[in-house]
Amino acid sequence: MSLLEAKNIRKVYKTRFGGASVEALKNVSFTVEKGEYVAIMGESGSGKTTLLNIIAALDKATEGTVILDGMDLAKVRDRDIAGFRRDNLGYVFQDFNLLDTFPLEDNIYLPLVLAGRKPDEMQERLGRIAPSLGIEDILKKYPYEVSGGQKQRAAVARALITDPRIILADEPTGALDSKSSDELLELFKKVNQTGQTILMVTHSTKAASNASRVLFIKDGTIFHQIYKGDCSDNQMYQKISDTLTLLAQGGEQ
Ligand SMILES: Nc1ncnc2c1ncn2[C@@H]1O[C@H](COP(=O)(O)OP(=O)(O)OP(=O)(O)O)[C@@H](O)[C@H]1O
Ligand SMILES: [Mg+2]
Repeated sequence: MSLLEAKNIRKVYKTRFGGASVEALKNVSFTVEKGEYVAIMGESGSGKTTLLNIIAALDKATEGTVILDGMDLAKVRDRDIAGFRRDNLGYVFQDFNLLDTFPLEDNIYLPLVLAGRKPDEMQERLGRIAPSLGIEDILKKYPYEVSGGQKQRAAVARALITDPRIILADEPTGALDSKSSDELLELFKKVNQTGQTILMVTHSTKAASNASRVLFIKDGTIFHQIYKGDCSDNQMYQKISDTLTLLAQGGEQ
């Protein structure tokens, strides 16, 4: 059984006042296996964030099903949805989404606090992940006191601390300079090598070339996918560039 199964996902956004509706996703189906590192690419407006939000149970599909580790998201009751997200998913946003009024440490603890975990357990978990994230020395600082790269590492720690079934990341390098971006990609690689499943939306060919598989979304459907297999990052980069060129030309594979 796959860790994640998205089946025939369709999403129509209804505009207010009876205006034209937008079909953001037409018919998206794909699976992610446990331990995979999958990137999703596609032009602006192709439906990437819409898809990720549906998988994260932040939004509902108009049609279709999402099954995470055997659980059908549609069957989770509305009042249980926040808990479901907290216990099963780690979300990394482009703009970090840290609370400025709390130090990084408290930001990272937040999902565990909300889950009613004990301080000892929280400290033990953070102690386990902080060294590999390189954030031990900045935990007492506030988000506005650290760099973008450091903020994003804290956001990754917050996503990892619950030991989620899957990390969902929407443009996690989008707000970072190239050095911080490279560091974040190294970190994702390392986290994936420990067995953590990652699904990452990105515009960056370089970011996507780290993934073990890249899905290309166009006009609301998955247009193509490529596997990294034994390719190097550079070879994967080239494969992705070629596919993006084809996509831009409107060609079919
Ligand atoms: N809340 C909304 N209401 C109405 N239309 C929406 C809403 N959110 C997104 N859309 C539309 O759905 C389509 C897909 O949007 P989405 O944000 O998923 O694209 P994206 O691939 O993430 O783009 P980007 O790369 O710019 O982030 C777009 O046409 C967008 O305008
Ligand atoms: Mg988006």
